[in-house]
Amino acid sequence: MVTSSTELVSADHAEFACICECQSIDRDAVVELHRGFFSDQPSLPSKYFYDQSGSELFDEICELDEYYPTRTEASIMGACVDAMVEAIGPAGRLIEYGSGSSLKTRLLLEHMHADVTYVPVDISGDYLEQVAEKLRLEFPRRRIAPIAADFTRPFQLPSSRARQARDVVYFPGSTIGNFGPAFAASLLSQMRNQVGTGGGLLIGFDLQKDPAVLEAAYDDRRGITALFNLNLLRHLNRVAGGDFDLKGYRHIALYNDRDHRIEMHLESCHEQSVTLAGRTRTLSKSERILTELSHKYTIDGFTEMAAASGWQREQIWTDTNEYFAVGMFRS
Ligand code: AVI
Repeated sequence: MVTSSTELVSADHAEFACICECQSIDRDAVVELHRGFFSDQPSLPSKYFYDQSGSELFDEICELDEYYPTRTEASIMGACVDAMVEAIGPAGRLIEYGSGSSLKTRLLLEHMHADVTYVPVDISGDYLEQVAEKLRLEFPRRRIAPIAADFTRPFQLPSSRARQARDVVYFPGSTIGNFGPAFAASLLSQMRNQVGTGGGLLIGFDLQKDPAVLEAAYDDRRGITALFNLNLLRHLNRVAGGDFDLKGYRHIALYNDRDHRIEMHLESCHEQSVTLAGRTRTLSKSERILTELSHKYTIDGFTEMAAASGWQREQIWTDTNEYFAVGMFRS
């Protein structure tokens, strides 16, 4: 079944109010779920991976032997932090997109000059405040100024106190790779507009490599990534009135050589009908639901994408295998 967005947007308000009331998601989220799931190639938004259990599973993924990105990025940061801090220069604010527990930022904060203000930006307001409180105790001389916002939508930074010093966005973890090229470019432009001319961007991105290494990273032997993928359905059952039967799906992770990305899917093990956010559809046997994209770049390819959004490459740091890169860009 294909539903056009106009059909959805013009759907009766009362119906929406009812759907939203029975579930803990808003009207925009209902539209987004309908648009993705009730299309010819069903997909579900990756953001639903991250409820409490999903976040815990993701932490486990980061520790897996096969999942190289987290430890590789950490090793690059550890080895090159002094050079990075020098490249950042006397920043007024370090703005972290999707800061979560701010784990990766501690190293930078330990090495950066005392006057920098750290601005963690995260969608989860309560958690953000808890993390900010902890950071204030750990770094009593630093100003910590959290912003509760969904960074995938435009949000306003308060005007800077330090007029002379530049703002620098920090976006680690290769989260940029989880967005399609057009959206990634618009996110980079949004960052560029926020920091203005002369601002900086320190960003982690994952590099192209042997597809066998990539597929193992997203389909580990212990099956943790499979649980992480399936948990998305459990989460949607809870918050969006879904009735997915988790036993009826299997985890698939494939490297798409043409688009240079890992694609995670959930494959229907048999024909089944599913209700989600007030609507029902049938999935045939072996039909796949796309749940995540994870793009892998070349250094030159990433540099081009950043340049098209107004960022000039200043420096790139990689590990000896060239599995992962951290880049410093200037606007
Ligand atoms: C958050 N993001 C960068 C991870 C990645 O590698 O794309 C999400 C992930 N999905 C499965 N394993 C990890």
